[in-house]
Amino acid sequence: MAKKNQTLGEFIIENQTEFKYSSGELSRLINSIRLAAKVVNHEVNKAGLVDIIGAAGETNIQGEDQQKLDVYANDKFIQTLTNRNIVCGIGSEENDDFIAINSSDDKNQNKYVVLIDPLDGSSNIDVNVSVGTIFSIYRRVTPVGTPVTIDDFLQKGDQQVAAGYVIYGTSTMLVYTTGHGVNGFTLNPAIGTFYLSHPNMQFPEVGRIYSINEGNYAHFPQGVKDYIKYCQEEKEDRPYTSRYIGSLVSDFHRNLIKGGIYIYPQTSKAPNGKLRLLYECNPMAYLAEQANGLATDGFQRIMDIKPTELHQRVPIFCGSRKMVEKAKEFMKNSQEK
Ligand code: AHG
Ligand code: MN
Ligand code: MN
Repeated sequence: MAKKNQTLGEFIIENQTEFKYSSGELSRLINSIRLAAKVVNHEVNKAGLVDIIGAAGETNIQGEDQQKLDVYANDKFIQTLTNRNIVCGIGSEENDDFIAINSSDDKNQNKYVVLIDPLDGSSNIDVNVSVGTIFSIYRRVTPVGTPVTIDDFLQKGDQQVAAGYVIYGTSTMLVYTTGHGVNGFTLNPAIGTFYLSHPNMQFPEVGRIYSINEGNYAHFPQGVKDYIKYCQEEKEDRPYTSRYIGSLVSDFHRNLIKGGIYIYPQTSKAPNGKLRLLYECNPMAYLAEQANGLATDGFQRIMDIKPTELHQRVPIFCGSRKMVEKAKEFMKNSQEK
């Protein structure tokens, strides 16, 4: 039972038994993500100081080379998961290929692989707007004790055992699911502890926010143009309001709380959309469905798509159930015309 103000550590221990194959391994993994999130949070929070600290040379106060924050976040998550010997493989938006951990060491009995977008919305860092980290966890499909292969990463989203995000916002939150609803924890920065602040998060069934980069309007498919027109019509409950931050994590988080739809469709310039199936769309789709929302590529469920490559892109429509259904209807109708 989720209790408000419970710490994330307490929550993980208390809910460990509800995992399908409970051995404590998944709990330790989520604990590692919690730790890496705190380290990255600390760095993100002083991002504005980087120029001041680093002005004299290109080095920071510890004498290390200054790194771009997405590289820093990538390194921290990979280091934490590798050092604690907690996973058998990692796939990251920032790396061309997946990383096999202890692949030559048959003592590695770890069962889980992690996929991450270490810093989502990184173009917003320079302007002090919220960014995030997205993660997704699967059980490997190849035998334990052997090196991981691409098959362990190219699993359908409905095979996820956990997924979540960290939002480095006005406060820092970790929001995640292990298939038993979605819970949100807020970091108390003074003591470095996450507390359960948003138990059992649910998308309102109908929302009034649509989030899409309308600058690409001319390149949208007709169904998306029609849906936008629908959102803007003067009706009893419309026009809806438009909100677009340009950080998927932040746009999703706001819509989850207030009710809304996030769309990154295919465009004539990007025929598969922009967002990555494995690092962005699947984890958000899992969270959306666990929070009574939906996620489709405009036609089919995101989590039913069988990935064919690590960095595959797909269009995404996700958020409040009724809104996603409506957008899907417009996509279907425009195809039939
Ligand atoms: P990332 O910073 O990990 O590359 O992701 C950016 C993504 C996503 O967060 C955001 O919603 C989208 O790109 C914004 O794209 P546009 O600038 O094309 O709207
Ligand atoms: Mn991203
Ligand atoms: Mn990223």
